[in-house]
Amino acid sequence: MEKKIEWWKNAIVYQIYPLSFKDSNHDGIGDLNGINSKLDYIKNLGIDVIWLSPVYQSPMDDNGYDISDYKRINPIFGTMEDMENLVSNIHKNGMKIIMDLVVNHTSDEHQWFIEAKKSKDNPYRDYYIWRDQPNQIQSVFSGPAWTYNEATKQYYFHLFSNKQPDLNWHNPKLRLEIYQMINEWLDKGIDGFRLDVIDLIGKDIDSMSLSDGPYLNQYLQEMHDHCFKNRDILTVGEMPGLSIKRASEITNQKNPLLSMIFQFSHISLDEIPGQGKWALKKLDLVEFKNVFNKLQQTLFEKGWNSLFLTNHDQPRAVSRFGNLSFRKKSSKMLATVLYGMQGTPYVFQGEEIGMTGVQFELSQYKDIETLNMYRDHLQKGYKHDDIMTSIYAKGRDNSRTPLQWDDTQNAGFSDVQPWIDINPNYKELNAKKDLAEKDSIYNYFKELFTIRKKYRIFDQGTFELIYPSHHELFIYLRKTKNEAILVIGSFSENRIEIDLSEYSQYQCLITNETPIDLKQTVIPPYYCAIYYKKEDYHANH
Ligand code: NOJ
Repeated sequence: MEKKIEWWKNAIVYQIYPLSFKDSNHDGIGDLNGINSKLDYIKNLGIDVIWLSPVYQSPMDDNGYDISDYKRINPIFGTMEDMENLVSNIHKNGMKIIMDLVVNHTSDEHQWFIEAKKSKDNPYRDYYIWRDQPNQIQSVFSGPAWTYNEATKQYYFHLFSNKQPDLNWHNPKLRLEIYQMINEWLDKGIDGFRLDVIDLIGKDIDSMSLSDGPYLNQYLQEMHDHCFKNRDILTVGEMPGLSIKRASEITNQKNPLLSMIFQFSHISLDEIPGQGKWALKKLDLVEFKNVFNKLQQTLFEKGWNSLFLTNHDQPRAVSRFGNLSFRKKSSKMLATVLYGMQGTPYVFQGEEIGMTGVQFELSQYKDIETLNMYRDHLQKGYKHDDIMTSIYAKGRDNSRTPLQWDDTQNAGFSDVQPWIDINPNYKELNAKKDLAEKDSIYNYFKELFTIRKKYRIFDQGTFELIYPSHHELFIYLRKTKNEAILVIGSFSENRIEIDLSEYSQYQCLITNETPIDLKQTVIPPYYCAIYYKKEDYHANH
């Protein structure tokens, strides 16, 4: 008998960035009812789980990742009733929903911080991190991670903006309040969480040990015991600073603290090591393959992977890793190579129609990280054009422009001017047009997901790179006792000759063009395919 696996290992997750998904109330801002009106579009793609970026009460300094009340819905997105209605409709459609849990920090407008900053003996003072003197730690959003509080003559700590004070996780009372809040949401019937920068909660500021700090396992274990233990939910921890080995430990099948994590090794390969995300470097495909190989090998039969190339913080996948002259083909190729691996697939809204990044004027950008970096770099003497080149390549607004539904005004996202400009290519690139085309990206994703669910090899098979040092082809073989698949993806605009004749009896399951004959292989530009072989089980046993 085949072993039953956890539902979230086979699930396909779709991330919604609510600000930019669909506006229903004519204010240029996406909202919960907008999402509700598009559940068919999501369901029809083959999605099982929707991950909703934060919709809680927030002054929106960092687009909702600065929460001022965990128990309320931000009125720009709707009401608690709208939220409950959405959850119930998602369930009626046979899907699940996970929310974003941001508990490394709150907004400075959270009641806890409003209290804490009043006086040193305020009961909430110790919910945050205070020092008489700041140390050298810098904020992820530029400048020092410390801001002076005049009233109490101390500095508070914030790894992100100064409107996002970090919570003091060493305080047991605070931790219990957070667990209680988590349980209230789970009791409402949501199916899990994506946990924002959760690798930071175990930090020790004084020794400057921030990510994967000394208390991380202890606090995750405690959270697990208080909130997750007896529930059948999906938890995915965003952990930008965690090594692959630690990813395997935290998700280990014997005592998983979280179902899976977002590990970021593949995301930093196009930056100059040690110089941060804005220092651009050309991606080396061999390095890229090696990272995935290591992830696949290290977590195999130990932990569990999440498969993603983009999200609301990353550039559009096709602009970054594909080729816009081969937009459709390379979008499909990236999906094939990524989702052919072991792990839970994540799709970021718009990825399923191959949406691309933008090159805006500076005044059109909204993202706090981008704008702060621009000011900071200008002050340090960088040239405007060079800074803009980094923003075009890496800025977070690339993936935050509204979803392009059709070619009508504002791309069918809203009937008024949206909060951020639409990508000007919406007349040629939109969901309606894509779906109407024979070689639609959306339909390709859908077919790929159907295949993934049909063959157990996708969640069970081993992983082996074929031609590991080839600089333009990403090819791998996966095997179980009686099945094998060969996944081929070309990252080149040239035709490439290669010998794959030993796989010539494999059958093509899916491809982005006419399947090629593996006996005399010439791989066309941005070609991709999955070939399948079932061993004759009885012949071998
Ligand atoms: C990671 C989130 O994905 C990002 O959007 C946010 O700015 C930071 N964490 C801070 O919450």
